[in-house]
Amino acid sequence: MRITVVGLGYVGSVASAAFSSLGHDVVGVDISYATVEAFRDGVLPIYEPGLNEVITESMQNGNLRFSQIENMDDSLGEIVVIATGTPTLSNGVSDLSQIKQSVAWSMELMPDEGIVLMKSTVPPGTGRMIKKELLQDTTLRYVANPEFLREGKAVHDWFHPERIVIGGQSDAISLVKSLYRGIDAPFVETDITSAEMIKYASNAFLATKISYINEIASLCDKIAADIDDVAAGIGLDSRIGSSFLNAGVGFGGSCLPKDLKAFRRFAEDNDQAAEIMSAVTLVNDRQRLLPYKFLVSTFGSISGLRVAVLGLAFKPDTDDIRDAPSIDLIRALLGDGALVNAYDPRALKNSRDILREGVRFQESLSDCFHDVQAILIMTEWPEIVDYDWKWIADQASSGCVLFDGRNALNPDDMISYGFKYKGVGRGVLSMDDSERNNYLT
Ligand code: UDX
Repeated sequence: MRITVVGLGYVGSVASAAFSSLGHDVVGVDISYATVEAFRDGVLPIYEPGLNEVITESMQNGNLRFSQIENMDDSLGEIVVIATGTPTLSNGVSDLSQIKQSVAWSMELMPDEGIVLMKSTVPPGTGRMIKKELLQDTTLRYVANPEFLREGKAVHDWFHPERIVIGGQSDAISLVKSLYRGIDAPFVETDITSAEMIKYASNAFLATKISYINEIASLCDKIAADIDDVAAGIGLDSRIGSSFLNAGVGFGGSCLPKDLKAFRRFAEDNDQAAEIMSAVTLVNDRQRLLPYKFLVSTFGSISGLRVAVLGLAFKPDTDDIRDAPSIDLIRALLGDGALVNAYDPRALKNSRDILREGVRFQESLSDCFHDVQAILIMTEWPEIVDYDWKWIADQASSGCVLFDGRNALNPDDMISYGFKYKGVGRGVLSMDDSERNNYLT
């Protein structure tokens, strides 16, 4: 089938690559000349493991090409996939202008009875509005087909999804199902608004799980219990499940925080207080500043304190720092006059663009530790977790504080190297032997 993908961000670039590798004839278009050139040259503007390989292969097979939107002179394929951004404005409203522009542009070039397939995350009710406001006098069909892929694992997730949700009229659903030929996953066929709701409710639930375990972790810290054991014990109940129960400095990224905010606003607009989601946000905002609060409670003033922040991306295997906990943390540290060394294997460039002044970005992990008084882990990159921590302890100031914001290190080892170790909800594990004995006996 001939497919045009509008918007070459994370979702659009992966959709272009994957649909073309399934044998469809795909053109990926974007408003930015620079983005299109980058894809043509094989120098992707984002870091996503495995994506470059799929794109290169599909381009060589002749199934995939890229075009700047205004230079797209051919008529479009029978399917136009919309994957443009839906940023959340400060009042929580989703800005749908890119979506509307993309649909309006597609309408001019699409064949009769073509399908507008919405992959961008939009508030429930958006599809209905687009049909009414834009598509009413056309023969075009509208399908909601939300995307659940995770950054860093996007290519894997595309080819091994846990479900494919398709909302629309049955004839259009059948056609869209055929796009996924070769992928083994259950289809959830529904109306447009329910499909949109599945996406919002999924992200809100994932965020809720994280804030839930973080709240339990805070209590574990208070009573010196061990969140790792508690999460394992909870997760074995199949009604709960073990994933997304990792306590830490909370969730970031381009989706969970943004969608939660938009969901709260969407609920308010429908005369409903989104109480759970407000609490989830509150807990998450608190989590990202835990390392800062720990330093203040340990040192009193942190002005002039030498601190290394390890991991800037919102999670490993991505260079994405959108809404990353590390950014809020570093701003708080700088605000109180701390001296910050920062390192990330992939996200240094993006971080430099945002945190312009005050941070000493280090090109190599080994350069971060000379005489530092505190080390804060914000992202559990394997390079950071698997480093020689005994060597790090030797470089750092004696009695250096180590705040493990992702509970990624072995506390006993760290204490034995001389660190003053603190995890999230690892109250008992953060103690030395004598303190621990007091609690456990
Ligand atoms: C998320 C959804 O998982 C995905 O289905 C949707 O399509 C887009 O949003 P993503 O933003 O890529 O994907 O990241 P995800 O892997 O979900 O992690 C989100 C954040 O939660 C990260 O900052 C991660 O560190 C944090 N997290 C995750 C936790 O703090 N604890 C956990 O147990 C899991």
